[in-house]
Parts: sequence; structure tokens; C-alpha cells
Amino acid sequence: MQRDEQELTTYFADAPEDVSLADVDLERLPSHISVIMDGNGRWATRQGMERGQGHIAGIASLRETITACVRLGVDVLSAYAFSTENWKRPQQEVDLLMHLFATTLVKELPLFHQENVRLEFLGDIEALPQKTREVFEEGLSETADHTGMTLALAVNYGARAELARAARLIASEVKEGTLSVDDVDAACVSSHLYTADLPDPELLIRTSGELRLSNYLLWQLAYSEFYITDTLWPDFDRWELLRAIRAFQGRDRRFGGVKA
Ligand code: IPE
Ligand code: IPE
Ligand code: MG
Repeated sequence: MQRDEQELTTYFADAPEDVSLADVDLERLPSHISVIMDGNGRWATRQGMERGQGHIAGIASLRETITACVRLGVDVLSAYAFSTENWKRPQQEVDLLMHLFATTLVKELPLFHQENVRLEFLGDIEALPQKTREVFEEGLSETADHTGMTLALAVNYGARAELARAARLIASEVKEGTLSVDDVDAACVSSHLYTADLPDPELLIRTSGELRLSNYLLWQLAYSEFYITDTLWPDFDRWELLRAIRAFQGRDRRFGGVKA
């Protein structure tokens, strides 16, 4: 992926004491960074605000993370925005999130054009409220020709539902005779997931300190490096991203083998 050195240096100027651009090796960046954006509600509650204010504040963190990843030259950024379990939340919060998804996407389309970002959705977006679905479809078609970073937003996403869907797709191909049972291997399963055209995440970041996956990318995270930070999502910024990448670059990834 191409990067503009001048823009990059400017974007990461004024570094805090503990981390700077010089701490990461730009030639060894994770090709796919994935984020579980968690802690919006707690952030708002701690400031004496409604949970919804946390979701609104979280949008700026996503925008900053997108820009930082584009500047660095990351190929794929994915982010967990709404799980299949999040429908259990109070209707008012679900409605606000669906409204924010639609309005934010409309507002941020110029950013995607400017930064050449291609949008993708992971999850069942057919089941979203009509307005949100329409805006998402527009976002998909408007950015389809962009050749820069891919931004994959997981909305109405659940890994178990995704795997069950892959099983259904594979079963129907076998039934129709277009796929042989002997060809159902790991690559075949991967190619029937929402992430079929994406590399697996190399780095998974979860904010707000929770030590769980919450039904996120169970298959794709098989060999990802995890970075858990207590920072709540609305406080996440470009520096926290650099800390995560620095930690990733310090790991010894063995993939079941022995140390290189
Ligand atoms: C993450 O923040 C955003 C979504 C799940 C949509 P939360 O809303 O889960 O925030 P906490 O975990 O309650 O603090
Ligand atoms: C995971 O966060 C889903 C998203 C960030 C969209 P949750 O807040 O829903 O996860 P749990 O409920 O703490 O496991
Ligand atoms: Mg949460």
C-alpha cells in the first residue's frame, strides 16, 4: 500500500512521551487490523452522560483510526460496530445506533472518497432498518472502485451466524452438484465467509479491557495477535493505535512451529 511520507509525519507529529512513529517498523505493519470498539457506554456513564453520548463520541475515534491506518498504509481495517446480540439492548439505544450508522456514513462519504477507502460490510445488513440498509448499499456502490484501504464494518455480525451461513451455502452447492464433499476444506470454508476477499486479521485490538471475543470473527482470528487496552473506545486515538502496533511487532508469531 502506498503512503505519503510527508502526510504521515505531519499526522503523527506532537507525540506523547511514551510512543512515537519511530517506534513502529513501517515495513512490518499488520496488513489487517481489526478493532472491537468497546466501552462507549461506560465512557458516557463516567462523565455523567447518557450512553448514547458515548456512541456519538466513539464516531470520532473511528474516524481517527481510519485516517491513521490510511496514513500508515494499512491494507485492511475492520471494526465491530453492532453484534447479532446487540439487538437485546433497549430499543431506544438500538434505534439510536441504527440512526447514527446511517447519518455518519452519509457524512463520512467525502472522507472515503478523499482517502480512496473502499467500504465493505460484514454481517447480515439485509435485516437492518430500511434507511440504514439503503445508506449502506449506497456507501458500497459509491466506494466500490476505490483502490486504497478497505474498511470492513461488522454490523449485525455474529461469528456463529456467519459460520452457520457458510455451512448452508456449502451444503447447497454440494446438493446442486457444483461442489464436491472432498473439496470442503479450510480454504473452502474461508471463501464462504463475509470476509472471503480479506486476509485474516493479524492484529486484534479490544478496548475497555474485556477479555473476550463476544462472537467476533471466531474463525478468522485463529492466529491473530491480541492487544487489549483498558482505554475506552471514545478515548482511543492514533497513539493508542501505535502502541498496539508496537506490541504486535514485539510478538514472536510461531503459527504452531518453533521460534524462527
Ligand atoms: C461499544 O460500546 C459499542 C457497541 C457495542 C455498539 P458499548 O455500548 O458496549 O459500551 P459499554 O461496554 O457498555 O461500556
Ligand atoms: C461487542 O461489544 C460488540 C461490539 C463492540 C459491537 P459488547 O459490549 O456487545 O460485548 P459484551 O456484551 O460485553 O460481550
Ligand atoms: Mg460493551
